[in-house]
Amino acid sequence: MKLFDVYPLMDIELVDANDCLVTDSTGQEYMDLYGGHAVISVGHRHPHYVDKIQDQLNKIAFYSNSVINNLQTELADKLGKLSGYEDYNLFLCNSGAEANENALKLASFSNKKSKVISFKKGFHGRTSRAVAATNSPKYHSPADTVHDVQFVELGDLEAAEQSLKEGNVSAVIVEGLQGLAGIYVPEEKFLLGLQELCHRYDALLILDEVQSGYGRTGKFFAHQYAAGLKPDIITVAKGMGNGFPIAGALIAPDIPAWYGMLGTTFGGNHLACSAGIAVLDIIKEENLMENASELGAYLIHELQQLPEVKEVRGRGLMIGIELETAIAPMRKQLVKEHHILTGVAANPNVLRLLPPLTLKKKHADQFLTALKAVLMNQTEKSSA
Ligand SMILES: Cc1ncc(COP(=O)(O)O)c(C=O)c1O
Repeated sequence: MKLFDVYPLMDIELVDANDCLVTDSTGQEYMDLYGGHAVISVGHRHPHYVDKIQDQLNKIAFYSNSVINNLQTELADKLGKLSGYEDYNLFLCNSGAEANENALKLASFSNKKSKVISFKKGFHGRTSRAVAATNSPKYHSPADTVHDVQFVELGDLEAAEQSLKEGNVSAVIVEGLQGLAGIYVPEEKFLLGLQELCHRYDALLILDEVQSGYGRTGKFFAHQYAAGLKPDIITVAKGMGNGFPIAGALIAPDIPAWYGMLGTTFGGNHLACSAGIAVLDIIKEENLMENASELGAYLIHELQQLPEVKEVRGRGLMIGIELETAIAPMRKQLVKEHHILTGVAANPNVLRLLPPLTLKKKHADQFLTALKAVLMNQTEKSSA
């Protein structure tokens, strides 16, 4: 059997990893500034993470959501404390798309409406409701277009209100910080304005923190830069398990649950919870939010000094570097000559940095030196 060929692959097979470094099958090490798409939060193969999962594997790896699993309670307790959302309730599932799918369904169950407002360039996953709320027609199969979604420009409160006024809006879904699009930070007053509009028109505000959550931006959630913002539902995945598939929705206390309302076979299983608990322990013990904030500010400041760079956007260790031209040749050179992995974005001129939150200053400096060399090389080539 062959693999269903949906991914364009880099010509690298990774066989080993340690903190911010990954090693390929030829023994070549790479600095990981991509984190496997913002997934590696606490560094590859962190000893506490490995121990927790191994210990759990030697006890019980899985049982379904038909028996008590105190690991779920421990995870919810630690997540509530570290995120500042102690009074919210946690629904556990397996991926970012599934978290958003459930969040949108929950909103509709809760207010009995069906329309969704989402934002242009945003990304919420590939399942039917989540992809319908993603403004990329190439991802929409005809079966996904049955959902009633209206797309509004990020930042345009007037358009959002116009759409809410038309009625039947169940939910407004927005990324805490737009990632795949090319790192676009929503203004704080815009997010607060959305909250106010949602209250006024009885719609639920869903903050998709799948990419921007779990300390990546220097706060637990990117939306926490907007003081006073308390979404109805917050979705998490990626960094939550540092590579172990686990995701969730944090649900405001005024939204009631009933048996059968949501469900999943694998969600919240013993192994996934062990991974999730280990991640929270490490973020707290190693002050990784502070590290992301400080190192991110340093990187952003240094990147802003480079004359070849058009704009640097982001917060903490979620950074977009925009050039005047496509970044593809530069990214290739970073891999081939400097052994540094970085990410792309929907905007072809944007290089995306999503490193482990354990990144050290020496890594940041190594990247800056490599980037300067690559930018100079590209400038020489284009003027030759
Ligand atoms: C903001 C955001 N939401 C949702 C998703 C979907 O997550 P998953 O691929 O785990 O389904 C992603 C994935 O990149 C994302 O960046």
